[in-house]
Amino acid sequence: MSEVRKPVIVVHGGAGAWNHERSQPGLEGVKKAAKTGFEILKHGGSAVDSVMEAVAVMEDAGAFNAGYGSSLNIDKRVEMEASIMDGKTLQAGAVGLLEDIRNPVRLARIIMEKTDHVFVVGEGAEKLAEMFDLERREPTTELRLKYYENQRKALLEGRSRLPRLANLVENYPELFTLETVGAVALDKEGNVAAATSTGGFPLKLPGRIGDSPSIGCGTYADNQAGACSATGVGEIAMRLVLSKSVCDFMGNGKTAEEAVELAIELVNRRIPGTYNSMGLIAVDAYGRIGAAHNSPNLCWTYISPETKEPVAYLAAKIVE
Ligand code: GLY
Repeated sequence: MSEVRKPVIVVHGGAGAWNHERSQPGLEGVKKAAKTGFEILKHGGSAVDSVMEAVAVMEDAGAFNAGYGSSLNIDKRVEMEASIMDGKTLQAGAVGLLEDIRNPVRLARIIMEKTDHVFVVGEGAEKLAEMFDLERREPTTELRLKYYENQRKALLEGRSRLPRLANLVENYPELFTLETVGAVALDKEGNVAAATSTGGFPLKLPGRIGDSPSIGCGTYADNQAGACSATGVGEIAMRLVLSKSVCDFMGNGKTAEEAVELAIELVNRRIPGTYNSMGLIAVDAYGRIGAAHNSPNLCWTYISPETKEPVAYLAAKIVE
């Protein structure tokens, strides 16, 4: 019989610069998400259920760039993305270009469990959502509309030129709050899972897909290694297949903490200079956790059986 593991969940509400007015809802949001996910693990539920419900809480919160409260693209429209991966089976599901699905992560799970595919976007994904009676919700909030106007103004005033949006992140961090959400968990059976959800990069071109739904980039889970969820400028995580890299480090014997730090070092070394926006969380197959970033902040928390009340943080290990 396999050994019973101590369950653990790690949750992030995104890298970026968490300014004062936003930080309290962010910290409360990640704590609520972690508590929801941990409650499932505590009662013997699966890591997949745990990360899905944790991410769904953050998609509903309005405090993050995911679900309700998603960023707007250059056309002033929301195009949401999400993914989920089961480390036991290596099954994965991902969705993109969603306009009004209340919980994109639930649709990602439907792709994983009810279809033969991994990644479905746009109209096809919307049709599946209808077939499975998923709830709809208009995701645009007043705050995101305000951010959109400020970001667009910065663009039009020549403070940035597309497609070098990353320069804006560096020069105007307050305009680019990359609050993608994610969760990783280990359950009592020793299975790991990861899920990530986002509205994507503010002012992104219509049709742009980022790292969050791209398996291996924003999300990866493998029982033989661990699980990882990424946040930050998606193109960086995609070019380095960052979440899979973290899992490879763990699979080769690194702890979760060492693995996320090595991956941020990889970002700094291979794509230096402009993109200090990345954040990573991970859990390894032994239940050890890690969080690291090169962004000014990372909003995150974790719960294990030793944790009485979760403490949420705006920073972890900053790797320069
Ligand atoms: N990491 C979120 C995005 O770039 O879409």
